[in-house]
This record gives sequence, structure tokens and C-alpha cells, in this order.
Amino acid sequence: MMEDFYNTVHKPVMLQEVVDAMRVPFDAAARPAVLIDCTLGGGGHADAFLKALPGHRVVAIDRDEAAIKAAELRFAGEIKAGRLTLVHGGFGGIAELAVGPVLGIFADLGFSSDQMDDPGRGLSFNSEAFPDMRLDRSRGQTCFDLLQTTSEAGLEKIFREYGEERYSRRIAANIMQAKREKRLPKTSKGLAELIAFSSPAAGRRGHGRLHPATRAFQALRIAVNNELAELDKLLEDGMMLLEGGGRMGVISFHSLEDRRVKTAFRKFQPLFKKPRLPGERELGDNPRSRSAKLRVAVKPPESAP
Ligand SMILES: C[S@@+](CC[C@H](N)C(=O)[O-])C[C@H]1O[C@@H](n2cnc3c(N)ncnc32)[C@H](O)[C@@H]1O
Repeated sequence: MMEDFYNTVHKPVMLQEVVDAMRVPFDAAARPAVLIDCTLGGGGHADAFLKALPGHRVVAIDRDEAAIKAAELRFAGEIKAGRLTLVHGGFGGIAELAVGPVLGIFADLGFSSDQMDDPGRGLSFNSEAFPDMRLDRSRGQTCFDLLQTTSEAGLEKIFREYGEERYSRRIAANIMQAKREKRLPKTSKGLAELIAFSSPAAGRRGHGRLHPATRAFQALRIAVNNELAELDKLLEDGMMLLEGGGRMGVISFHSLEDRRVKTAFRKFQPLFKKPRLPGERELGDNPRSRSAKLRVAVKPPESAP
């Protein structure tokens, strides 16, 4: 199991663009500084930062204990040399890190391919596993518990606001009925089928390549992991933590995240007006990168940290 994670299948997105953008303040720094990788995952970006920033330190955070354990093995040398520190927790707690002068903060939001492909997490529509969906399985409510304890109005709001789902009312009503009849699915596959059943016949086949439960699953994942509140906290507290001249880079994967990043970065100096997207070659190599958007902001040099 551990070895599976060590041999991560996750392909880091827009790796070269990210490193080129994030390294600039470090190359100009007169003293050793810190880059915080808020989303360690399979360690692809963290590895590239360690290689591109000799003389500086990387602090890598992840909510997923399995990602931290795998990185302890993979980066044992860098950890021993004091170049890498791993932190198990949510990046919303970034303000509590006392790590020295921070010149870079990077986040590659969402789930890694290792997590998506792990049948035990219940993230995929075909998974026979319990619908858990938590990034940090040591705490918090599972998706199943959330469905059990949320009212119809609450469920509808989750699907509408976090999934921008057209059939949020019907999905919520069908889940409530399943709860009343004590047949709420105990597998993600069953849950995906119940959600798909709530869409009209055309929708049940999905929009193009999308499974009809895609938006609802996105909504549940966001709700279970409190993802948007975590992101808001990262954007606000991260910018406070950053030294003047430092950079924050975020890769987002859906419009709810990107809108927040875009708005927050307007208060600073966005490095490029439009977000950077993966090129044709990357899209061919890694179809999961297709909705990625990279934005980078620079904190004005005169700002207090
Ligand atoms: C897309 S993956 C990152 C992949 C990584 N950049 C790489 O190159 O392998 C996102 C990771 O962020 C973690 N994550 C998501 N939200 C988080 C949060 N609020 N706090 C800490 N980690 C989080 C997930 O557990 C996952 O491992």
C-alpha cells in the first residue's frame, strides 16, 4: 500500500510554468527563505521546488496522512538535511505555521490521481466502497453521514451552490426519499446511480463525456471537506504571511475555486492577466489537467509581511 503511494501515479500539472513563476523571488533573495507547498499530494511539485531552489527550504502540507507518509519515505534525505518539513493538516491553518521568511506559497487544489484512483475512498462513480470522500480520514463527517444529517433544503443548497447542478432539487428530494425508506446507498456507485436517476433521461446519459453525477459529486466533495472556506482562509492568511515581493500561485480546477482566486489576487499584482492553461501536449499526456487554471499574484515589495 505504502509502495503504491511512493510510486505515485499523479502527474504534476503545468510543472515547468509553476516552477518558473514561483522561483523568481528566491533567485533574487539575499538570505535563505521558505516556499510552502500547501498541497503535497504525490510530491511532484514539491520535488521540483526542492531541485529548483537550492539553499532554500520547502514546507509541504497535506490533509491526507497517506500523502505525508509516502513523502516521508520518498524525501527522507531532504527531510534529514532540513530542506523539507512535512505538515499533516489543512492549508486553512497556514497562519499558524512558524517557518521563517516565506517568499512563495503554492496550492494545486483538489484531489490527486492517487486519491481518485484509490477505490477505498469512494470518490469514483464506479466505486463499490463506502461514500467517504474525506481527504483527512482521521476526522470530520463522511459523505454518507453528511447526507444522513442534512435537511432537504440543505442538500439542495449544496448541489446548487457547490455543484451548480441544474437538478439539485430533484436530487435532494430523491436522497430524502431514500433516507426515509432506509435505502440510502452505502456505496459510491449506488449513490451515483441514485443521482443519475434524478436527471431527466437525456441528462442521465451525461453531458458529453461527463457522468451525470459529476456536478453532484463535486458538490459533495466540497461540502465534506469544507473546501471553499479552506481556500478563502488560505488566500487571506497566505497573503499576510508572505514577505513583500513574494508570490502566491494557485492551480484551480473549477469555476467556484477560480473565481475566489481571481478576486483575491486582484488586491495584489496578478502576474498575468488571464490564467495559464495546460498546453496541447500536456492535455494529451494528462487528460485530468483539462480544467486546470494557474494564477499567480505578487505581493508588493513594500507590503509588510
Ligand atoms: C491535486 S493534489 C496535489 C498534487 C501535487 N501538486 C503533486 O504534484 O503531486 C491535491 C492535494 O491537496 C490535498 N489537499 C486538498 N485540500 C487540502 C487542504 N485544504 N489542506 C491540505 N491539503 C489539501 C489533497 O489531499 C491532495 O493530496
